[in-house]
Amino acid sequence: MAKVKVGIVGSRFQADCIAASVKMMPDESEVVAVASPTPGNAEAFARRHGIAKSYTDYRDLLRDPEIELVSITAPNRMHAQITIDAARAGKHVVCEKPLCVTLEEADAMIDACAKAGVLLLYAEELFFAPKYVKAKQMADEGAFGRVHLVKQGEKHSGPHSDWFWDVEQSGGGALMDLGCHGIAFCWWFLGKPKVKSVYAQLSTQVHGARTQGDDEAITIIEFENGAMGVVENSWNRPGGMDDSIEVFGDKGQTYADMLMGNALPTYSEVGFGYAVEKASTTTGWTYPVYEEHWNYGFPQEMRHFARCVRGTETPISDGETGRVVQEVLYAAYASAGLGRKIELPFRPRGIAKPIDLWKRPELAGQ
Ligand SMILES: NC(=O)c1ccc[n+]([C@@H]2O[C@H](COP(=O)([O-])OP(=O)(O)OC[C@H]3O[C@@H](n4cnc5c(N)ncnc54)[C@H](O)[C@@H]3O)[C@@H](O)[C@H]2O)c1
Repeated sequence: MAKVKVGIVGSRFQADCIAASVKMMPDESEVVAVASPTPGNAEAFARRHGIAKSYTDYRDLLRDPEIELVSITAPNRMHAQITIDAARAGKHVVCEKPLCVTLEEADAMIDACAKAGVLLLYAEELFFAPKYVKAKQMADEGAFGRVHLVKQGEKHSGPHSDWFWDVEQSGGGALMDLGCHGIAFCWWFLGKPKVKSVYAQLSTQVHGARTQGDDEAITIIEFENGAMGVVENSWNRPGGMDDSIEVFGDKGQTYADMLMGNALPTYSEVGFGYAVEKASTTTGWTYPVYEEHWNYGFPQEMRHFARCVRGTETPISDGETGRVVQEVLYAAYASAGLGRKIELPFRPRGIAKPIDLWKRPELAGQ
């Protein structure tokens, strides 16, 4: 089958990850163009990854007839507009997490893609992370009996780009940035049950001078089947990225540490090139990872999305997934603002960004 032709919007952190991941699955898809607004960045990115075409305006990329699938790796605030423009141009879309900033945007994105007859694929790579997939396979086989508690945590020392810290562009802090993974993970792991209620405790412990956003977040999700999800996020954990899960049932449990659990416990007095994302040093004891993209599931995610475009697989993560996550994010911010749990469905209208529900709980209308 012909390779799916991919255009990437954005040329920095996640764009590098997607370009490298697509290359790891060379039979499935190929990046043929990149667009990024800062002069010179798209060209440099194209040279680095051996990509034929580069644009400064993503709308030029959307006009490129060769492109079938657009991967959006721009800041959160841009996701909705780029998705809608891509759908109107007849392109399938892979949108990075979180899907967007507001629930109205989520609806508009899903609607635009449905009307245009294109796929809206939500890039939640944890659904493809080999260690987490193995945990789910065991759970689905009944290894742990009835699973009643799933925990996921993602914690690091804080984002690499300024826009994440500006809640106008990001929509929120660590919960919005990292919690979107854990919310999606717990929901997927448990078989996508309806969410019944959400409780969250948020605070800004360390980075108050830099951001209005939360830098510590604990979210408890109650599902309709009685199971619970616990999501823990932080922008205050030096020492490199920490991504791990715990699963508990009445017949057993499993634990998986995606990065340090796969790493080489290493001691070096002089240091070396790279240990793991967000690690500030490679001297002393460190935990260098290998096959980082593979362990996260990015190549497997892009392979699945390419196959969805070719019609040989059905999306396991789509716009609806992103909207479920978005509603839980709203509920979590509102819960932290009101100091109590929020029952779903929870669809307050006209919220400019999720974090407003924490800062101004009266917006929740409850
Ligand atoms: N799945 C994951 O684990 C993961 C990891 C990192 C980032 N992300 C997500 O990917 C997205 C990008 O994050 P990042 O870390 O790459 O950020 P980044 O700051 O490293 O890169 C953002 C890119 O978007 C470009 N951009 C800005 N405005 C644009 C516009 N109007 N049109 C086109 N491009 C524009 C910038 O020039 C830059 O190239 C975010 O939504 C983020 O949450 C996901």
